[in-house]
Amino acid sequence: DEAIELAELAKRMGIKANEMIAKLMGMGVMATVNQTIDYDTASLVAAEFDFEVEKASFEEEALLNVVPEEEDKSALETCPPVVTIMGHVDHGKTSLLDVIRKSKITSGEAGGITQHIGAYNVETANGGRITFLDTPGHAAFTAMRSRGAQVTDIVILVVAADDGVMPQTVEAINHAKAAGVPVVVAVNKMDKAGADPDRIMRELAEHDLLAEDWGGNVIFVKVSAKSGEGIDELLEMVLLQAEVLELRANADRKAMGYVVESRLDIGRGAVATVLVKQGTLKDGDPIVCGLHSGHIRAMIDDSGNRVESAGPSTPVEIVGLAGVPDAGDEFVAVASDKDAKQIAAHRMQKQRAKELAKKSRANLQKMFENL
Ligand code: GTP
Ligand code: MG
Repeated sequence: DEAIELAELAKRMGIKANEMIAKLMGMGVMATVNQTIDYDTASLVAAEFDFEVEKASFEEEALLNVVPEEEDKSALETCPPVVTIMGHVDHGKTSLLDVIRKSKITSGEAGGITQHIGAYNVETANGGRITFLDTPGHAAFTAMRSRGAQVTDIVILVVAADDGVMPQTVEAINHAKAAGVPVVVAVNKMDKAGADPDRIMRELAEHDLLAEDWGGNVIFVKVSAKSGEGIDELLEMVLLQAEVLELRANADRKAMGYVVESRLDIGRGAVATVLVKQGTLKDGDPIVCGLHSGHIRAMIDDSGNRVESAGPSTPVEIVGLAGVPDAGDEFVAVASDKDAKQIAAHRMQKQRAKELAKKSRANLQKMFENL
């Protein structure tokens, strides 16, 4: 694993690369200036020049702000649940979020189809807070889960009462099951003439989602994004479910969380919507995010206002990363810009080594195929 370029090693020892190549040749090792030599070879050739080679291991964990579990435990406080709204196309996910926020997200969207993941924090009638993620299809959710990013605490499964369980409904159920998060069912479009909530309950029972009314443990709420029926009850039920989960976070530490979406903005550079899971993210914080480093130059909340800090379960847009991270990437606030850069550089190097190894394997394969 540990290796150094021959030229670099020679430079550090203050000898000419040619001398080193000659010495290596004397040892029976053919080498060129641009070659990388492994630790053992480096040690041997260095010894020939009366040098000793020391392994400098890089411990990423030492630079990340890993908080001792005990210390973390004592500082835990209740935090808002992060809720993902899922369901089949056109069953009313965005419309529901719309009435919940009492805003008009749907009407502003091109063709009424969700183009991005929105992340919003709302305050309910009785003062509870919930963070919502509105997903476009489920690609981002899948990407996050495949990286082990536990972003969602609860899934609201939206099923149109006049349409029933559809392919993407089943997909959503499977996502929730795989993530091990509870589902609250919102039977939507109750205002419509063809609404048949019993049918929805029956069809979902076949997918192991048995309603409380039928002796199961899944909360069903009949709602209409159009009339507003059942919305307050839905929010109450989500908060109830959250209470059972006992969601806690330590706000009093450096932040960590996940990227929900990201893009390159012509004026502002890399922009990422992140969800803080632990700690408090502050303006100016040096951070590492996926393969990139940077520090927070600006933070914007879900209403478009600049904020100085963001605590657990808060979604914010951040500006200041050197590159665009991927959805699902973890971000961590660290002690200094130097630490952030070092970690990112190390990750980038590892990534490159991986790609190189893949490429050379592919080339080897091709060589054999051409034989
Ligand atoms: P995608 O983002 O494309 O997957 O759709 P969505 O699930 O977000 O559905 P959206 O909120 O865009 O709603 C689809 C259509 O159903 C729109 O025309 C809404 O006006 C309509 N709609 C949503 N909820 C209700 C409801 O409760 N009652 C009635 N009558 N129509 C609704
Ligand atoms: Mg939508």
